[in-house]
Amino acid sequence: MHVKWDAVAAEKGGYEHFMLKEIHEQPRALRDTILGRLEEEKVVLQEVDLSSEQLSQMHKVYIVACGTAWHAGLVGKTLIERWAHLPVEVDIASEFRYRSPLIDEHTLVVVVSQSGETADTLAALREAKNRGARVIAITNVVGSTVSRDAHDVIYTWAGPEIAVASTKAYTTQLEGMVLLGLYLAQVKGTLPASKIGEIISDLKEIPAQVQEILDQESSIRQLAQSFVGVEDAFFLGRSLDWAVSMEGALKMKEISYIHAEAYAAGELKHGTLALVTEQTPVIALATQRDVFDKTVSNIKEVKARDAKVFGMTYKGNTSLAKSVDHVIYIPETRDELAPILTVIPLQLLAYYVSVARGCDVDKPRNLAKSVTVE
Ligand code: G6P
Repeated sequence: MHVKWDAVAAEKGGYEHFMLKEIHEQPRALRDTILGRLEEEKVVLQEVDLSSEQLSQMHKVYIVACGTAWHAGLVGKTLIERWAHLPVEVDIASEFRYRSPLIDEHTLVVVVSQSGETADTLAALREAKNRGARVIAITNVVGSTVSRDAHDVIYTWAGPEIAVASTKAYTTQLEGMVLLGLYLAQVKGTLPASKIGEIISDLKEIPAQVQEILDQESSIRQLAQSFVGVEDAFFLGRSLDWAVSMEGALKMKEISYIHAEAYAAGELKHGTLALVTEQTPVIALATQRDVFDKTVSNIKEVKARDAKVFGMTYKGNTSLAKSVDHVIYIPETRDELAPILTVIPLQLLAYYVSVARGCDVDKPRNLAKSVTVE
């Protein structure tokens, strides 16, 4: 018998594209990234060696990265500020160096890079070190240049990511941010152990909750049909939902070539609302409980312009359905962990829109997986 064998198809493990395979690998990647790092009420980051004495000398944190990794940094900012009470700025690596940031030995710089080889991120890391900062890297590639040059490294265990559009690297970077935020809070004593324990127990649920969303894939596939002929789309949210909106919009732009814009829901009325018509579908993330009502008010603003609105919130929230055309439900978790869940339907949506539009999902035009030029 002659069996035809295709090495690339074999690597895709039965999936049509690497991106879909990598989306489905997320429960495993997320489990691996927290493995051995969580005790009942304590985060164990053996790779980071900061004493409470050293940390008390740190007055500021900069998170520096490009692309999707920068989006993970935007989530990290809220977590670190909320839990560790340190002010955080998030910078795009190619901007960071040229604006003479105020860095010294009292600055903690966190660089985030899937590949660990992005030229701008690497240059920012070196600049920060030259100015005396302590540098922690969050990276997915063991032995990468970033991992070698940083003082401390938190590895994400996503495994190799082949598709240009990042999926499992992003969600594991979010976990890296959760681990770092909790670690800093623990060392600084800004969160009681019992609270850290509660967050840890919710974090352990996340991989299974991601699987639960993946099991609903067919409904997102159906929903994707509403986007196939669209020219523009908007992604809205407040707080952490806004940060995830940016990643959702980026996925859509990268692989389906639809112009997608992410907007802080409350900012829309200061200009962008003029672009919203019945032709522009809006994806509105509404998980963050402290701003839920405000987000709903903003959703009403776009509904009043006849836009079709696809909302996303926790299962059990019965009120969002009254203000939108369709609701995507995610399992309930604490708001700080919601980004790891809300991004999953957005990844699937971008994927299925891309497939339906006949785009090259894994190798979108003009883009590279790793950018080693400045
Ligand atoms: C490229 C990739 C993006 C990635 C960015 C940063 O633009 O296409 O998916 O987010 O580089 O890459 P890094 O390896 O530093 O995370």
